[in-house]
Amino acid sequence: MDEYFKNQVAVVTGAGGTLCSEIAVDLACRGARVVLIGRTAGKLQSVADRITGNGGTCLIRPGDVTDEGAMKEIATELQKTWGACRFLINGAGGNNAGAITTNTAFEPSELDAERPAGSVGFFDLDLECFETVLHINTLGTVIPCRTFGRTMAEAGRGAIVNFASMNSYRPLTRVPAYAMSKAAIVNFTSFLAAYLAPAGIRVNAVAPGFFVNERSRKILCTPEGGLTRRGENVISHTPQKRFGEARELLGCVEWLLNDEAAAFVTGVTVPVDGGFLTSVGI
Ligand SMILES: NC(=O)c1ccc[n+]([C@@H]2O[C@H](COP(=O)([O-])OP(=O)(O)OC[C@H]3O[C@@H](n4cnc5c(N)ncnc54)[C@H](OP(=O)(O)O)[C@@H]3O)[C@@H](O)[C@H]2O)c1
Repeated sequence: MDEYFKNQVAVVTGAGGTLCSEIAVDLACRGARVVLIGRTAGKLQSVADRITGNGGTCLIRPGDVTDEGAMKEIATELQKTWGACRFLINGAGGNNAGAITTNTAFEPSELDAERPAGSVGFFDLDLECFETVLHINTLGTVIPCRTFGRTMAEAGRGAIVNFASMNSYRPLTRVPAYAMSKAAIVNFTSFLAAYLAPAGIRVNAVAPGFFVNERSRKILCTPEGGLTRRGENVISHTPQKRFGEARELLGCVEWLLNDEAAAFVTGVTVPVDGGFLTSVGI
C-alpha cells in the first residue's frame, strides 16, 4: 500500500492490453481504486481478477474511448460513487492492418496495373482504416481528457499520462497513420499541460520503446520464437539489445502521476526505450 495512491480514483484506458494491464494492477496494489476501460469485457475481467485476487479494488467499464457519450456516462457515474478521477492513464490505442504498407519505400511496381500479390504501398492504403487509426489514437486520448479531466478540474487537481511512441519522434517505416497519430500525442500533451496548469492538473506522456504485445509479436518475432527481420532491426538499434517488459514502465508512470515527486513536471514526454532514441545505430 502506498499512502499517495491509497483510495484515489485511477481511470486506465486500454486496461486489458499488455502495458496498461500491468499499470492497472500496479496502481491497485498501491491502493488506488482503479476503473478499467476497454472494448472487450473479457480482457478487462482477467485484469480485474488479478486485482481482486491481490485484495485490490476495481470496476470494469467496457467502452470505446472514442465514444464521448459513453465516457461521459462513466465519468458521471464515478463522480457520484467514488468521486472525482485523480489519475487518468490513456493507454487505449493501436494500429490497423489496412493502414500498414508492406513496402518500406516506393517501388515502381506500385504503379503497375498488374500488381505483385500481397504488395501494399502508400497509394494502396485503405483510407477508412487510416482514419480509424488516427481517430483511436488521437480522439481516443482527447475524449477521456475532456470527460475525466473535467472532474479533475472541478476537484482542482489531477494527473494525466498519455501514451506516445518512438514513432512520435521519427516515423518508422510502413505505419504512417500510427506514426502520425502518435506524433500528435506529444503535441497534444504539451498543449493540454499548458492549458490545464491553472486547474491544478499535470499532463505528461510516456513514449514506450518496443514492448512485445499481441499485435507486434507477429511483426517482431517468428513463430519459432526467433526474431523477424524487423525484430532484428529493432534490437540492433536498441542499445540495451532487448525488448522492454511492461513492468519496466511502472516506475516512470508512478513518478509522473505523483504530485509530490513530479510536482513541477508537466507537458513532457518521457521515453522508456532501452536507449532506442539516443542511438543513431552507426
Ligand atoms: N507495445 C509497445 O511496444 C508500444 C510502444 C509504443 C507505444 N505503445 C502504445 O501504448 C499503448 C498500450 O499498448 P499495448 O502494447 O499495451 O497495446 P495492446 O496490448 O494492444 O493494448 C491496447 C488496448 O487498447 C484497447 N483499445 C484499443 N482501441 C480502443 C478503443 N477505441 N476504446 C477502448 N479501448 C481500446 C484494446 O482493447 P480492446 O480492443 O478490447 O478495446 C487493447 O487492450 C497504446 O497506446 C500503444 O499504441 C505501445
